[in-house]
Amino acid sequence: MLDLACGTGLNFALLEPAIGPTGAIVGTDYSSGMLARAAHRVAQHGWSNVRLLQADARTLTTEQIALPHGRLHRVLCTLGLSVMPEWESVFQRTFEMLEPGGRYAAKDLYIDQGVGY
Ligand SMILES: C[S@@+](CC[C@H](N)C(=O)[O-])C[C@H]1O[C@@H](n2cnc3c(N)ncnc32)[C@H](O)[C@@H]1O
Repeated sequence: MLDLACGTGLNFALLEPAIGPTGAIVGTDYSSGMLARAAHRVAQHGWSNVRLLQADARTLTTEQIALPHGRLHRVLCTLGLSVMPEWESVFQRTFEMLEPGGRYAAKDLYIDQGVGY
């Protein structure tokens, strides 16, 4: 599965038991600093099924992710799309990487600037 804009890898501890021993996580982020912290977390926990990839979500390709079957089973993006100016095209691009029946989960925040607080 893909954890898009994985940051420091906070999601990994929740994902690990969910994907099981045969599952794998590809965590992508364009920040080397975030990925360094993610790598530290992965090493601390001894997760051998996590691969980290420095990539810009706006230009991410399936070739970069190097998927064994060419398509993703799952995509997760938490608090990532809202910080990407072209989030619609990022969503479209990564949604199209899913295999038929695959699932995409996104969690994010949006503050309505018109509320006035
Ligand atoms: C608020 S953090 C969320 C991190 C993580 N998903 C979480 O829930 O803890 C947003 C992340 O998006 C990454 N990011 C922002 N724009 C990006 C882009 N165009 N491509 C890849 N990563 C991006 C940032 O580097 C940062 O790690």
